[in-house]
Amino acid sequence: MKGTERAEQELKALEASALPAIDGASDPEALEQIRIRILGRKGELTEILRGVGALPPEIRREVGQQANALKARIEAALEARQQALRAALLDELAVREAIDITLPGRPIQRGSLHPITATLYEIVEIFQRLGFSVAEGPEVELDYYNFEALNIPKDHPARDMQDTFYITDDVVLRTHTSPVQIRVMEAQPPPVKIVAPGRVYRRDADPTHSPMFHQVEGLLVDYGVSFADLKATLQAFVDEFFGAGTHLRFRPSYFPFTEPSAEVDIGCVMCTGAGCRVCKGSGYLEILGAGMVDPEVFRVVGYDPEITGFAFGMGVERIAMLRYGIDDIRLFFENDLRFLQQFPAL
Ligand code: PHE
Repeated sequence: MKGTERAEQELKALEASALPAIDGASDPEALEQIRIRILGRKGELTEILRGVGALPPEIRREVGQQANALKARIEAALEARQQALRAALLDELAVREAIDITLPGRPIQRGSLHPITATLYEIVEIFQRLGFSVAEGPEVELDYYNFEALNIPKDHPARDMQDTFYITDDVVLRTHTSPVQIRVMEAQPPPVKIVAPGRVYRRDADPTHSPMFHQVEGLLVDYGVSFADLKATLQAFVDEFFGAGTHLRFRPSYFPFTEPSAEVDIGCVMCTGAGCRVCKGSGYLEILGAGMVDPEVFRVVGYDPEITGFAFGMGVERIAMLRYGIDDIRLFFENDLRFLQQFPAL
């Protein structure tokens, strides 16, 4: 029986040193060292188990059972410690690498269309819905297209209406989009139904005039076109752009390339006719020039003398100023963000 006691003491001593060491292992590496020390190929318990077979038969069974039971307890302790260490590591990671998903996001800076661009697009889109297509012409234009072909010869007093930037005697910065009328009619036979948006230039600078500004030209040519067609088309436009039922007024005027000609007003959008600072008490705002295409223009482009048509031209800056109540055209070109950011939805 003495052999049994000795073996039991050995196992107890091993258990007494092994279990606290396992529970005290501070990381997986240290835990693995302990496992190797006890259960490795030359581990303390492995050696004991290997010796069991050599024990006298009467104690072999008893000692073998105790050693195997201890092995099971140690393996359980190793497993438990390993899981505890892994859980602790995850807890620490969760704290160290925590992301606060409740923090508000950083807003991205959003651009928007310039109010003039947006206004120009909107005008063009309305006419596209009415069946007009878009034509364009050069900003550096021949005197011929800007003036001559529009029935404005060199000595014509109408040239004084538009202070022109001359490049040479025969080349100008276009003073209006009307030259596009001529270019389109030269290039195609009737019927014609176009709008021509773009930049134009005049030697003029004050709160309501800029040396560069934008116009949208309109031209409709066909047989049997009347002044009533012009009025209906413009009424459809202002109903869309300024609101249904916007009041239109035609005043007799003069342009060398239209006959008869008119300047067209809308009822003031600010005071709806009562009279205010914006309409200077008149109750009306001028928005465009228009008229029936002069037969002389048709003759110059070689169209049938029986053909008819109307044309109009509007200033985009002017229309945007009226709509948004802006009193200084220069605000459009200073590109001050405090001004531009007031048109975010455009
Ligand atoms: N081109 C003229 C201007 O700039 C406007 C206009 C266009 C008038 C078409 C009549 C017909 O003042």
